[in-house]
Amino acid sequence: PDSSYIRNFSIIAHIDHGKSTIADRILECTHTIAERDMAQQVLDSMDIERERGITIKSNAVRVMYAADDGQTYQFNLIDTPGHVDFAYEVSRSLAACEGAVLVVDATQGVEAQTVSNALLAMNAGLSIIPAINKIDLPSADVARTRSEIEEGLAIPAEDSVSVSGKTGEGIHDLLEQIVRAVPAPTGERDAPPKALIFDSYFDSYRGVVTLVRIMDGAFSVHDRVRLMASADVFEIEDLGVRRPKETPLARLDVGEVGYIVTGLKDPSRVRVGDTLTLDRNPAEVPCPGYREVKPMVFTGLFPIDNDQYENLRDALDRLRLNDPSIAYAPETSAALGFGFRVGFLGLLHLEVVKERLEREFDLDLIATSPSVDYRVHTTKGEVLDITSPQDMPDAGRIAHIEEPRLKVKVIAPPDFVGAIMELTIDHRGSFKDMVYLSPTTVEMHWEMPLSELIMDYFDQLKSRTKGYASLDYEFFRYEPSDLLKLDVLLAGTPVDALSFIVHRDKAYARGRILCDRLKEIIPRQLFEVPIQAAAGGRIIARSTVRARRKDVLAKCYGGDISRKRKLLEKQKQGKKRMKAIGSVEVPQEAFMAILKVD
Ligand code: GTP
Repeated sequence: PDSSYIRNFSIIAHIDHGKSTIADRILECTHTIAERDMAQQVLDSMDIERERGITIKSNAVRVMYAADDGQTYQFNLIDTPGHVDFAYEVSRSLAACEGAVLVVDATQGVEAQTVSNALLAMNAGLSIIPAINKIDLPSADVARTRSEIEEGLAIPAEDSVSVSGKTGEGIHDLLEQIVRAVPAPTGERDAPPKALIFDSYFDSYRGVVTLVRIMDGAFSVHDRVRLMASADVFEIEDLGVRRPKETPLARLDVGEVGYIVTGLKDPSRVRVGDTLTLDRNPAEVPCPGYREVKPMVFTGLFPIDNDQYENLRDALDRLRLNDPSIAYAPETSAALGFGFRVGFLGLLHLEVVKERLEREFDLDLIATSPSVDYRVHTTKGEVLDITSPQDMPDAGRIAHIEEPRLKVKVIAPPDFVGAIMELTIDHRGSFKDMVYLSPTTVEMHWEMPLSELIMDYFDQLKSRTKGYASLDYEFFRYEPSDLLKLDVLLAGTPVDALSFIVHRDKAYARGRILCDRLKEIIPRQLFEVPIQAAAGGRIIARSTVRARRKDVLAKCYGGDISRKRKLLEKQKQGKKRMKAIGSVEVPQEAFMAILKVD
């Protein structure tokens, strides 16, 4: 096709502003999916996405649009996630596009990820079309939303389109605006072929499948191609586009977006951000690629059944193809055995990856309490990166510790400024400044430790502002901090996987709360289990799980064998999520208990 009739764009927004719903309407309006086959949020294809109602992975789809000018355009549309933890996923998709539809919910106005995603799109040099959504709702305030887009984002609002993803109103205008405002891809038809790999995944039958944007030239089935960074060569087994079902084609042309089946069985050979070129006619310069992202939150992941260790390694290798932001290294715990220390971009990311590992790879995992990356200066002048509390050197060897601090942005109605101040100061935040985006919306700037942000800050922010506040953050710098390690003893034995690092001022309070929580979470055993929190060689808090008296089988009066078996079976299932630590059965929640500190 003539690439002047191609439009490549992403749909970006703050979480829940309606990207996936607008994508549905576009699929419908362009007759990509027959009305009777139309489900909700078609592009959210993973189970986790449907259950949680959020987009986790970007999804590329091709639709054909018969425009008012009489021409038919090829739209390659990429729906992206909205949550802050998945910003990297968004930035990777943007590199495959010339334009972005920025969806803003007219009942909410500009929120934190509206700003951050708009900035990502601007920095990628894309044309931005603001789509003011949910105008069917009585509380929609289009005028205010327009002014916030101009004030907060410096995007001229006359380019915006008002739409309803629910009723379909305005979607036609949006499609016309995409034709007008998104530039056609540039790129040379006759240059040596070159494609950017912006995503990939592992398919058990076909090996590594990559999603690509063709920058120059064309690729055909059976071409021998080369990965420019790894210098690996393979033959294209199959290629095509998603509509959204996979549709094989003979070739992908300059400017187009599609998938390429590599047949490679070793996931580590393909890296997202790498450039694909023709082996016999290679491009000289690769695409700019992606910056490496640094994980911010670390946890230990341990198979409940130690035999699954190798499976966990394979699963991580394969998942990394689809999610290059995770990092992992082997870790051993006295309490939990062999596992991996895994780095994530945030807590939701952690939860999602753990769940994907369990579902897609059939594993049962324990995750230990999350930690950040501390920089420990020893008395001998060494500098250690410590991502696991159990690696923390003895207090005597430590000169000082630095912790990562964030620049945090909170957007909320002015009524909540007091509540946000109180909460953030309590999380060791320091206030910088605030600006009004409109009379009903302020943007506050803070600096605070990452370790405090992961301590329930987001949930508390939401609850104290009745859901009105939104949050965005980025790494700022390392700063010295008065930290110490808190250990937890169960029945007198320290459990390495429960240790965490805490600011000295908070050690007593957090130790106290943790002991109380663990007492609720750890089920009664046949014997009494004392729980103790220790810091600096002293016990600072304690609680006790009292012994269990009741015997489950006592209820059965000895008679009914099948009922007895059922009960035992049920008990066994209940146990599945538990890990025996010494003689104590500890459920998964215990390891996350430290995060809930209210
Ligand atoms: P993430 O992918 O999780 O970031 O969310 P999203 O931006 O894709 O939002 P989604 O499309 O899942 O919509 C969020 C909620 O808003 C859903 O309950 C939709 O049904 C609803 N919604 C979306 N668009 C409209 C609209 O135009 N009008 C109304 N009334 N509701 C809408």
